[in-house]
Amino acid sequence: MTDSTHYDFVVVSNRLPVDRVVDPDGTARWQRSPGGLVTALEPVMRASQGAWVGWAGQPDLELEPFVSDDAMLVPVPLSPLEIEYYYEGFSNDTLWPLYHDVIAPPSFHREWWEAYVEVNQRFADASARVAAPGATVWVQDYQLQLVPRMLREQRPDLTIGFFNHIPFPPYGIYAQLPWRKQVIEGLLGADVIGFQRVADAGNFSRAVRRLFGYATRTPEIRVPDGLGGHRSVIAKAFPISIDVESFEEIARRPEVQDRARQIRADLGNPSTIMLGVDRLDYTKGIRHRLKAFGEMLRDGTLSVGDAVLVQVASPSRERVAAYMQLRDEIELTVGRLNGTYATISHSAVAYLHHGYPRDEMVALYLAADVMLVTALRDGMNLVAKEYVACRLDEDGVLVLSEFAGAADELKNALLVNPHDIDGLKEAMVAAVRMPQRERTTRMRALRRRVRDNDVARWSNTFLDTLRHANHHSDAR
Ligand code: F6P
Repeated sequence: MTDSTHYDFVVVSNRLPVDRVVDPDGTARWQRSPGGLVTALEPVMRASQGAWVGWAGQPDLELEPFVSDDAMLVPVPLSPLEIEYYYEGFSNDTLWPLYHDVIAPPSFHREWWEAYVEVNQRFADASARVAAPGATVWVQDYQLQLVPRMLREQRPDLTIGFFNHIPFPPYGIYAQLPWRKQVIEGLLGADVIGFQRVADAGNFSRAVRRLFGYATRTPEIRVPDGLGGHRSVIAKAFPISIDVESFEEIARRPEVQDRARQIRADLGNPSTIMLGVDRLDYTKGIRHRLKAFGEMLRDGTLSVGDAVLVQVASPSRERVAAYMQLRDEIELTVGRLNGTYATISHSAVAYLHHGYPRDEMVALYLAADVMLVTALRDGMNLVAKEYVACRLDEDGVLVLSEFAGAADELKNALLVNPHDIDGLKEAMVAAVRMPQRERTTRMRALRRRVRDNDVARWSNTFLDTLRHANHHSDAR
């Protein structure tokens, strides 16, 4: 930090790590924000003492910067209409479905796009104000793809990184976006653009070639600087991860282990606890998982009392129509399954529409014999890594969708295509019946992988590449 209002390291994301929530009795409090982005970036920020620019989760909040967990949080206000157009609209009803293989149809509205441009400019301005001369600014995720260029225009002295936490789609899908060129121009303002998977970085470079014809030599993209020279932009995969040690530390605590035993007892001591933990989002494949589980109960492969599915579905984007519809469908399905198969003493599905504190999540991971991650498309899926990190006992089976970014690394999970319900059922049976020795061998290999590639490695690799890339750019 150069002085108390300017920072050498600035993170910019749509949400701050804490959301301001107002309880029904009118009391306002701060609560941890949902999603993997915050899980990954919190430890990075703690180590860097930088500033974090983002929205505080409520409309029209004009707040002064404040300190939380050693980081200076710089709130960016959004009006109710901007929340509707920029956040719920363009970010989560245009880009989100488009970037996730159009699992839900994306909506294209010009007024949403205009709000996206305006809000991105506000984030860029706020970041430019707090960045010290020559600072590093790291912009996060699809909500802020125009910020790198906007920032470079105001502050050519900055080193700018961008990380996309969600997939980047193949050109055939990306090309649907009416503003496809503007978005790529926005991103190319960065010195380094990070993606979760090698395939995402490849999709991005292909889109750049198709739309602009710029020369690319993996991982470099040569972007004309308008003065006859070039800037070099790196587009590369940096698979994100978690703070493994902090999860292990919680998993080691006797009270958390007691809580795991208590959860098992409260569920009636079934032989198998299956667990799903997701934001309630149509990309997560919750419906597919419930379908497979329901058929297994119907076929008699599993029986209530002997097996239970615990599904934590944390509330998300509740005013977006596709999410409302999904919630109705999931809750109808859970109701049907319980209505058909539950007994007075045992549920088929324990469905929990809440977010939980980390300790409780770790206790759930410890209690779960089988972890189900059946996303239809997912940038990474940090829940899969959290489960593995917590299993100090080298037990437990991870069933993992091949469409989650984590599948590139976690090859020792039982990999599934969640669209193939029979295949999913077979994997679930294999997980339930897997001999102890195989469980240990697989979990040991998974744990090695997750420990070797933790979040510190992710951020260090990204930031090293950023330092190096900026240094070698012929624009400076
Ligand atoms: O990783 C995807 C992401 O959209 C993050 O950007 C975000 O923090 C998280 O999921 C939760 O989504 P939201 O902020 O829309 O609740």
